[in-house]
Amino acid sequence: MAETAQLRLGEKTIDLPVIEGSEGETAVDIRNLRSETGAITYDPGYANTGSCQSSICFIDGEKGILRYRGYDIQDLAANSSFLEVSFLLIYGTLPTPSQLEYFTRSIRIHTMLHEDFKALFQSLPKDAHPMAACSAAVGALATFYPDSLDPRNDRQVEISVHRLIAKLPTIAAYAYKHSLGQPFMFPRNALNYVENFLHLMFANPCEDYEPDPVVAKAIDLLLILHADHEQNCSTSTVRLVGSSMVNLFAAISAGINALWGPRHGGANQEVIEMLAAIRDEGMTAREFVDRAKSADDTSRLMGFGHRVYKNYDPRAKIIKGACDEVLNKMGVHSKLLEIAKELEEIALKDDYFIERKLFPNVDFYSGVIYNAIGTPANMFTALFALGRLPGWIAQWVEYHGDPDFKIGRPRQVYVGETARSYQPLDER
Ligand code: CMC
Repeated sequence: MAETAQLRLGEKTIDLPVIEGSEGETAVDIRNLRSETGAITYDPGYANTGSCQSSICFIDGEKGILRYRGYDIQDLAANSSFLEVSFLLIYGTLPTPSQLEYFTRSIRIHTMLHEDFKALFQSLPKDAHPMAACSAAVGALATFYPDSLDPRNDRQVEISVHRLIAKLPTIAAYAYKHSLGQPFMFPRNALNYVENFLHLMFANPCEDYEPDPVVAKAIDLLLILHADHEQNCSTSTVRLVGSSMVNLFAAISAGINALWGPRHGGANQEVIEMLAAIRDEGMTAREFVDRAKSADDTSRLMGFGHRVYKNYDPRAKIIKGACDEVLNKMGVHSKLLEIAKELEEIALKDDYFIERKLFPNVDFYSGVIYNAIGTPANMFTALFALGRLPGWIAQWVEYHGDPDFKIGRPRQVYVGETARSYQPLDER
């Protein structure tokens, strides 16, 4: 690989260094472009722009490969747990038994929320979207822990990281309980991470509740599969917001808002609504696929397509398998799963989807599992946020330790009015 690239602009030719990643990806380093030529690059949607060098997550979108810290997602899905994967992402290595014990214990003892949080949730309307409630509550953590907000103090960062991982399930479940008008449950720290989340969501003070191990295992798997995905929209948001040196809670709150959008994590809610609409309106899968292709219709086949994957998303493959397994074990027959499989079969044979390399993504089947276990559709994206949290944290931590750390501040190509004189109001 050449060590430099040459760029000719007008009369001037400049050499630009070339960087090669450990998996052979090539990047042209344009840091001196503007100082040497006066020009900037233009790349809407950043489809060709590397914003950082990172050693957390590797994706080969053509081959459908995803690895966290070098470990294949299939391997982690089959053998690991969400907290172990969280440790791996944040600290860079698989934990030893004593490291995992320390980490898990620390997460366990931070699950409770300050009692005053109840007032925060109670001040929201009953139909508040859980993502808005989660982002508000995570932002509010900064007001409860003003002693641990310094992004360059290792101990303060560690305690904030553990608090976030411990408290986000409690926050998400409170958002749900508030929408039902049910009492908030206290965490049960004897349970594991996912069982405790199920308890917070589905238990009530009047009855005994034991989380179903089949459901807990399925959710743990889904959290692993969502845990990181390199520089996607919400992760880039966390890095960009974090680059202002704001505290971790504020950066994660921003990430939650970015994830909410239907082109990103919000797609999992939209997929289940799409499947339910097909079922309830008596539409055929073929009719819906035709609508999604039509230039006159704004519908998209939600849960299909990806900026990076031009092949089957490896996470979708694992989730599809898990759907069959979990639903069988629970004895649930899902019409929605049937419709999803039918849509997939039609789309994968359709020229429109073949030409554009549109395959099922992580959101296509995940909602079928969430739905089967009784999670309301508007909570799906909050579950995505629970999963993505360690990835956001790992990327935030990595950026703060990066020798190239600086505030994110893109440029623009200005296309507005050139200088003009102010007209007094009575002359307009
Ligand atoms: N249904 C129908 N057409 C589609 C779809 C779809 N799901 N996705 C892309 N296309 C078409 C799009 O209309 C465009 O066609 P044309 O070239 O004729 O204009 C072409 O494919 C390229 O699409 P794009 O929007 O320019 O591609 P992108 O890389 O900017 O967008 C995407 C990627 C994920 C936003 C898009 O595929 C999409 O909107 N998918 C549906 C929403 C979704 O499932 N999002 C979850 C993404 S994975 C999890 C996550 O990131 O949170």
